[in-house]
Amino acid sequence: MHLVLTSLLLGCAGSDPAPEPTPEPAPVEAPAPPTPPKYAALFGTLPEVMADDPATLTDAKIDLGRSLYYDPRLSKNHDISCNSCHQLDKYGVDGEPTSPGHKGARGDRNSPTSYNAALHIAQFWDGRAPDVEAQAKGPVLNPVEMAMPTADVVVEVLTSIPGYPPLFEAAFGDATITYDRMAEAIGAFERKLVTPGPFDAYLAGDSEALTDAEKAGLDLFVTTGCTTCHIGPGVGGSMYQKLGLVKPYETEDVGRSKATGKDADKYFFKVPSLRNIEKTGPYFHDGSIATLDEAVRLMGTHQLGKDLTDEQVQSIVTFLGALTGEIPTEYVAKPTLPESGPTTPKADPS
Ligand code: HEC
Ligand code: HEC
Repeated sequence: MHLVLTSLLLGCAGSDPAPEPTPEPAPVEAPAPPTPPKYAALFGTLPEVMADDPATLTDAKIDLGRSLYYDPRLSKNHDISCNSCHQLDKYGVDGEPTSPGHKGARGDRNSPTSYNAALHIAQFWDGRAPDVEAQAKGPVLNPVEMAMPTADVVVEVLTSIPGYPPLFEAAFGDATITYDRMAEAIGAFERKLVTPGPFDAYLAGDSEALTDAEKAGLDLFVTTGCTTCHIGPGVGGSMYQKLGLVKPYETEDVGRSKATGKDADKYFFKVPSLRNIEKTGPYFHDGSIATLDEAVRLMGTHQLGKDLTDEQVQSIVTFLGALTGEIPTEYVAKPTLPESGPTTPKADPS
């Protein structure tokens, strides 16, 4: 040891002859690196907050957004809020094929869940809104949804409710209420509507988080080709694809071409996220498919040209159950809404 040290020191001083190279220390037995769970790379990681810059989502903005999400005074007849169609205690849906809006009117499309929606490349079945903030401006003025006449009227209503200006001030630095700020606050609230579940624990390396049956279903989901489209942390939501890609699917809704005006986009829809899918039926853009079994079977036939057996459908459905996450009960608890003021317009059933 002494000799080695001496020759090293001499070596440092730059004198001849060059010292013998010191023998490499025997390698310490390194623990085997954890094997990444199967298919982890296909899905990536569900973020805790669905925002590029989570710092912009202040508590004040989120609290305001939560109130607005639940406030029926954003509807003409004070009877419909975002939560009417996207019920946060029901995985963000209302369980109806299409949802009743103002005077019970219904649109043509099924209400998708607001949970995990901020992950998607864009919002709506056809992707016509770029993000949740832009999306939030739609339903308030939609005549078959909340049916407010104009954005200015919405601003007047919010300004007339004495509790709102201070909430806007806390969120935005001054008490000015605008339609854009309303949408921004709702979006901020939605960006934390994340529901991690057993599948995420599995992807994070807990191989026990899925049962053997769920793992077999995951295998089948991948090997059948579902992940050509339902991929990424949302298990969907990351691309547009044609409904009826392999075998034409009959529907009156032309999907994305209505938003882009392009013929090539006919029957293209945003590939839906399959998170919480067991809880968000009925299925498809028009809510016409009652059960998850049937939705999976149709996907095999029309998207992949594969007629899945009942056992295969069951196996995939078993896996899809592991995509049911936990509702953030405290985060989504309905707040006490600020009371109307003397000038707040009354409900208008007309
Ligand atoms: C009357 C029912 C109804 C109300 C009220 C309503 N929505 Fe929706 N929402 C829908 C329907 C239907 C769609 C799909 C429409 C489409 O794709 O053309 C949708 C789509 C969405 C999406 C897109 C999700 C995705 O996967 O693309 C989000 C997010 C959303 N709504 C949030 C809100 C918010 C926030 C409010 C309140 C400001 C609101 N909704 C009010 C019915 C409703
Ligand atoms: C070529 C792309 C593609 C493939 C492959 C594909 N899907 Fe889909 N999937 C879609 C599209 C697009 C929709 C939306 C259908 C609609 O708008 O009505 C969808 C819808 C669904 C739905 C209904 C979601 C909802 O919220 O209503 C389920 C469930 C589903 N797919 C599961 C699967 C399974 C399981 C497989 C494999 C057997 C699969 N998909 C293969 C593109 C695909």
